[in-house]
Amino acid sequence: MTQAELAQAVGEVLIDESALQGRIRELGSEVSADYAGRDLLLVGVLKGAVFFMADLMRELTVPCEIDFMAISSYGAATDSSGVVRILKDLDINVAGRDVLVVEDIIDSGLTLSYLMRNLRARKPASLEICALLTKPERREIDVPVRYIGFEIPNRFVIGYGLDFAERYRNLPYVAVLHPDLVPSTV
Ligand code: IMP
Ligand code: MG
Repeated sequence: MTQAELAQAVGEVLIDESALQGRIRELGSEVSADYAGRDLLLVGVLKGAVFFMADLMRELTVPCEIDFMAISSYGAATDSSGVVRILKDLDINVAGRDVLVVEDIIDSGLTLSYLMRNLRARKPASLEICALLTKPERREIDVPVRYIGFEIPNRFVIGYGLDFAERYRNLPYVAVLHPDLVPSTV
């Protein structure tokens, strides 16, 4: 990607790199304190959560494992009932495990709501959510989120895992997508 292409895509920076890393350190201490002496399994939602999860995990002082799921969300079959397709399931059996779902962003909440129902049926010992970002204004369904990095306004954002058409995930900060590029569905 050229500098010119990047300049065209990136609008206002909402959360810079040091703010992200500072908040992730705080979340890491909180999670470590809450899960002391337990059997923590981080479940990342591909692909956006990979970056947050990798940084969060390095701030944890409790033993932990990771696994991943891929589900269809944006641009795919999210209907009003919130039924979402699983594209890749977990490798690990979560029965009896303390599961912390790690997400990049909660928007309508439909994806996570479906995922939580699905995971709960597998009888984990506990099931909580840690989301880096949330857009409360966009919520269509209530999802109880235990850990939140930042609340953001109703803008389409890119960077730090978040994509626009699969690009810009590698930006080390969270920025608003340039107004000229904002998709009409958002
Ligand atoms: P929800 O089911 O509406 O909560 O959708 C959540 C998913 O939509 C996230 O995991 C992201 O993949 C995607 N998403 C929502 N808002 C944004 C955004 O502002 N930028 C990039 N992806 C987003
Ligand atoms: Mg996405």
